[in-house]
Amino acid sequence: MLSRMPSLEGKVAIVTGAGRGIGRSHALALAAAGAKLVVNDLGAALSGEGRDDTPAQQVVGEIEAAGGEAAANGENVADFACAGRMVEQAIERFGRLDILVNNAGILRDRMLVNMTEDEWDAVIAVHLKGHFAPTRHAAAYWRERSKAGDEVRGRVINTSSPSGVFGNVGQANYGAAKAGIAAFTLIAAQELQRYGVTVNCIAPNARTRMTEETFDTSAPGDGFDPLDPGNMSPLVVALCADEAQSITGQVFHVWGGAVNALQGWTAGELFASDERWDADALLGALVERFPDGAAPPGMLAGMQAAGGRSLRAAQ
Ligand SMILES: NC(=O)c1ccc[n+]([C@@H]2O[C@H](COP(=O)([O-])OP(=O)(O)OC[C@H]3O[C@@H](n4cnc5c(N)ncnc54)[C@H](O)[C@@H]3O)[C@@H](O)[C@H]2O)c1
Repeated sequence: MLSRMPSLEGKVAIVTGAGRGIGRSHALALAAAGAKLVVNDLGAALSGEGRDDTPAQQVVGEIEAAGGEAAANGENVADFACAGRMVEQAIERFGRLDILVNNAGILRDRMLVNMTEDEWDAVIAVHLKGHFAPTRHAAAYWRERSKAGDEVRGRVINTSSPSGVFGNVGQANYGAAKAGIAAFTLIAAQELQRYGVTVNCIAPNARTRMTEETFDTSAPGDGFDPLDPGNMSPLVVALCADEAQSITGQVFHVWGGAVNALQGWTAGELFASDERWDADALLGALVERFPDGAAPPGMLAGMQAAGGRSLRAAQ
């Protein structure tokens, strides 16, 4: 069945890490909806090492073969100057920038007790700085357009992870970066609203080289494949439509056809006192309120809840 698609005709998008996996799906979907694309990808190994122009060029080829317009970019998103050049490339080549999808990522999983400084630094750099740097340059461009009197409808879509919002064992570096990206989304959304820019975030689930050891790698023979990376992209296209101008600062968990606007770090158990707590008394109150202790339920429990539960919709 062909579905109607919001038109992104005339818009220009950058997708980082778009040579493979989820980013590639986003780029193809945005192009199919009419956007012109800068397909960024360093062509790195899963660990972030090495580079290769081929993946980005292949996706450009796919977009062009389908009648769209695209340009490849091989910059490292974690480098501030490189990220600036990527934003400039979009503006110089296509005349404007409307959409930035921050998606590039790497993995260096290790239990905390064994994690090296390099494993920590590399993952924090690609994810956290790799979100800040392109967003910072795009935001400066949008502020300039807004101050010049243009009606800006800018879009930033960030990429967190179930690991960042629920917490996964073995991913202290990755999960901390991804939690940081969720917080970055909330702050950037509030700061950039005045310039007409929305900032949202996806916590995706898809079968890519990043998850081939976690998920069952075999795609189901027929029927709906909940782990197809393409399942992540309708949300990106929808959020980029003009009609989504007032939806911002949201973190969406996506599993197959279940898109869940998460609620994180809301007010919880209150221990109230009219004056400064005495530590002994507070300890007593904690132990009384949590007779079975208090500990995170783990990533799977969070994913299962987000995959099927709503706080608002009639179930
Ligand atoms: N696959 C999942 O289920 C899943 C779950 C949660 C989060 N994510 C996130 O989704 C995003 C995409 O992951 P994927 O599963 O498609 O992985 P992937 O490895 O298939 O794709 C990531 C791409 O990013 C590129 N890249 C890496 N470092 C880069 C850099 N410094 N500059 C530019 N490009 C760079 C790689 O070359 C690669 O093509 C990542 O941010 C990942 O953390 C994925």
